[in-house]
Amino acid sequence: MDARGLVRSVRVVGTAQGVRAIRSAWRRSRTDADGLPRPRPERARVPGAARGAEPRPGGGVIHFARSSLRVRVAVGGAVFCGWDGAGPEPSYALAGSCPEPDPRAGLEPDKDGGWRVVSERVMVTVSRLGSVELRTPGGAVLRRDLPPCWWGPEDGSSVTRWVQRSQVAPDARFFGLGGRSVGPRLRDGAYRLWNTDPGAFEPGQDPLYITMPVQLVVADAGSHLVFHDNTWDGRVTLHEGGEGAGSGHDRPGRCELRMSGGPLRYWVVAGAPARILRGWTALTGAPALPPHWALGHQHARWGFGTEREVRRIAAGYQERGLPLRALHLDIDHHEGHRVFTVDRHRFPDLPRLAAELRARGTRLVSIVDPAVKAEPGNAVYDSGSAADAFVRDGRGREVRGVVWPGPAVFPDFTDPKVRKWWGGLYAERLAQGFSGVWHDMNEPTSFAAFGEPTLPRSARHALEGRGGDHREAHNVYGLAMARAGYQGLLELRPARRPFLFSRSGWAGMQRYGGTWSGDVATGWPGLRASLSLVLGLGLCGVPYSGPDIGGFTGTPSPELYLRWFQLGAYLPLFRTHASKRAGRREPWEFGQEVLESAREALARREQLLPYFVTLAHLAHRTGAPYVRPLWWQHSRDRALRDCDDAFLLGDALLVAPVLEKGARRRTVRLPRGRWYDTATGQAYEGPARAELDAPLGRIPVLARAGAAIPVVGADGGIELEVWTPAPGRSGTGLLITDAGDGWDAPEVVRLTVQTGEDGGPVVTRDDGGPAGYPLRVRG
Ligand code: GLC
Repeated sequence: MDARGLVRSVRVVGTAQGVRAIRSAWRRSRTDADGLPRPRPERARVPGAARGAEPRPGGGVIHFARSSLRVRVAVGGAVFCGWDGAGPEPSYALAGSCPEPDPRAGLEPDKDGGWRVVSERVMVTVSRLGSVELRTPGGAVLRRDLPPCWWGPEDGSSVTRWVQRSQVAPDARFFGLGGRSVGPRLRDGAYRLWNTDPGAFEPGQDPLYITMPVQLVVADAGSHLVFHDNTWDGRVTLHEGGEGAGSGHDRPGRCELRMSGGPLRYWVVAGAPARILRGWTALTGAPALPPHWALGHQHARWGFGTEREVRRIAAGYQERGLPLRALHLDIDHHEGHRVFTVDRHRFPDLPRLAAELRARGTRLVSIVDPAVKAEPGNAVYDSGSAADAFVRDGRGREVRGVVWPGPAVFPDFTDPKVRKWWGGLYAERLAQGFSGVWHDMNEPTSFAAFGEPTLPRSARHALEGRGGDHREAHNVYGLAMARAGYQGLLELRPARRPFLFSRSGWAGMQRYGGTWSGDVATGWPGLRASLSLVLGLGLCGVPYSGPDIGGFTGTPSPELYLRWFQLGAYLPLFRTHASKRAGRREPWEFGQEVLESAREALARREQLLPYFVTLAHLAHRTGAPYVRPLWWQHSRDRALRDCDDAFLLGDALLVAPVLEKGARRRTVRLPRGRWYDTATGQAYEGPARAELDAPLGRIPVLARAGAAIPVVGADGGIELEVWTPAPGRSGTGLLITDAGDGWDAPEVVRLTVQTGEDGGPVVTRDDGGPAGYPLRVRG
């Protein structure tokens, strides 16, 4: 264990457990020494010269002196490249089996002994020495991957490290890589691919809980997403390029990916951002559709302590007329931190509490940690042991860590039978009246750690029957746990959409639910980081997330709390988090002014619920995140690419949170078109930088001219908030509704907004019929 890990384990689990943690750290270092292959002399290898090629469906295989490259264009346009015989499967990221090859894409000889595969959306050229260029059909280079280099034992056995260097356009900007606290534009630096619980984190801390080898690269010539389907530990080093602007050479943007093992295989999806996300979702699965209530305000507290306290908080919201859709119960409602075991002294009748709250519109959500208290007599431990569910070391002993319950074991979620067993345990949560689950500590975190707070690298995993160790399984542990939980909830309660969000995960986690930004440090930089995380994850295909409003580490100032709250009100997961350490978090704890402003933010959120439901459906259907960078529709607007402090909520709204202490005005960069300040009605013409008022009571939110936004009307039914189109222009709107949390096909209404003869907007359905909903005209 390093010094930080030691301090943390002593602080968080008490001295006795801290001592246990140290002991277990030493055990762990011995385990790794025994369980991992000893280093052997290594040799470097590059592909060498091309010797020939054979066509295969969707492309072909190019043979080099010391390797081979499979290029395969799939139906839908995604390109797969696999070196050294790597195929697209098996994969934890892909939603099902690999998409079919595109029969129209074929292999042809290229100049100088190279080869190329031409398809509708991308052209792939492979040089004689193994560099791979991806171009737009018009010939512009999107990405140039230089010949990779591998290092491994001379006898070719065991793990091979590798590096791949790539170049992108000089003007390109990098986004993605999972949840990063400094972004969404990823500036020059190194980003690690190893899911990590950093403890409470300051922005700049890297890596965090969700890392993904997914990059979205945006440039004038075109955008693309590249996904290296490899779960091992790795590092991405990015350098943005620069243009000579007539007085020097252009410098390409550079990316270096170093992986400690695993296959060198990757997918590229090219096109406009919306198209890329659609293609990415087709590969890795549709984002789960949250139930309606999960799109309202939720409150978590570590340390409710008793049922009485839960009631007191719920009543506090109700008495003040503040809507509260869910309360999240943290680990302290478990007896002795035993997961799936309620402390009946302090929570004697959870089902009754749940029913009571539900009658008032508030659901209960339960934390679920993977660590199981290793103690015979603990029912979950006993049933898991009987099912051989826990991760073992190379010698077959259960791997012990230390987490909240003390000594603990970890289910091996990479084993289908373990997922089945674990999913069945959620019956207990449902019986207690919980409506959803919150997966935590699933990087997985163990305070007893050597070097890093997780399981030993030599720990054995089933990896779907292939067998392997934690080096390969670590990054997909949270993803596989989410799969177990989602599947369990679905089987136990098939008529309802499961609600699950998870602190850790990997590419494809959106299939099972969302995430939140974890233990971000309280402070203005933490507020900014929480926006970066939501935007970055959305571009990696995970649209449902949000911060712990107020941060994790201390009591925020009233102003900081309010600004965080105002931002959270426009993010998919709108959750406040309180704890003994974090202090109070209820809006009425910060004085009358904060309470009134929070009330307004909550009221607008409730009013926008039909819009959020629409965006949830849209994300489910197309992968388009609810929260989008300003360049979403204008990816050639370079100023927008560099803008990290505002976002689009769907197509219709532009939200400009206040991220600085004391600010009462802020500059907002507007994409092309007319925008209305929703508070003042003032119109602005983009592209422009607008100076907007941001009094403490609200943050600037702009509406696109011609938008029709579904909102809740005064009578509780749906209305359309219509923003007058700019002269000579029209607009569109979308409304997708459903019953709430089942599977019935939703109603989809596509709308066109035009200017009528009297100058006011006229809204029609795409079949020409009337909108069918009351209109509230603005702007
Ligand atoms: C972790 C979670 C946090 C939770 C705490 C106790 O730190 O990230 O949200 O409150 O554990 O369970």
